[in-house]
Amino acid sequence: MPQHKKYIIANWKMNPETLGQAKKLLNGIIDHTTQKENIELVICPPHVFLCLASEIKGVIFGSQNIFWEDKGAYTGEVSAPMVKDAGARYVIIGHSERRRHLGETDASVSLKIQACLKNKLQPVVCIGENERNQEEEVKKRFHAALLGIKKDDLKKIVLVYEPVWAISGNSGGAAASFDDALSGLLFIRKLLVKMFDTRAANTVRILYGGSVDSGNASVFTRKVGFDGVLVGNASLNKNEFVKLVKSI
Ligand code: PGA
Repeated sequence: MPQHKKYIIANWKMNPETLGQAKKLLNGIIDHTTQKENIELVICPPHVFLCLASEIKGVIFGSQNIFWEDKGAYTGEVSAPMVKDAGARYVIIGHSERRRHLGETDASVSLKIQACLKNKLQPVVCIGENERNQEEEVKKRFHAALLGIKKDDLKKIVLVYEPVWAISGNSGGAAASFDDALSGLLFIRKLLVKMFDTRAANTVRILYGGSVDSGNASVFTRKVGFDGVLVGNASLNKNEFVKLVKSI
């Protein structure tokens, strides 16, 4: 069964440029939305802005990435205990932009998921194909990500079906159609059932990501049946994002 609660996870990527702008955007969102029991609103700003978590209430924070070790000689990296201490509860793992520009691999994705679970953070794992109709690619990423995951841990994991071709930053990127999104959702549920069983598969939350906006968010959550959405570009515009949250 899909979860009753709907998740809206904002991926700010490498935006905005200053702490002041980040604060303004967050306050603007909070002023116009209220945390409701059936909505989990999570903002994932760049790491340097996670300090806002101790100052701004009324929103849940997430990180956009972590390194898999807890501490050590890994220049430039940030660990799970660090983002947790800063106030994050979720971590986006395996985003296609990290795979493309920053050398993220299936192996590092798996290690990072394990680091999240060990540190009681919820991994938000992105799985999607580069081109339309490449189910094998989704399958490969799915299996690599869930390698070694215990059935009992499935409820702590959020999967995102994020077809790379649908991400707004990619040239010509436009949201997946109802049919494409539904196929992606059913395919991932089927993989979960095969790997575990129906009961365990139904404990995993599955979100959609890729050009989500205020006009289509509720199509993905209410009509297609996703447990929520991962929102990039539309989460950077206060009015658009507030409208999106209200639509869900
Ligand atoms: P988009 O980005 O909503 O701008 O397409 C989503 C994402 O990359 O997480």
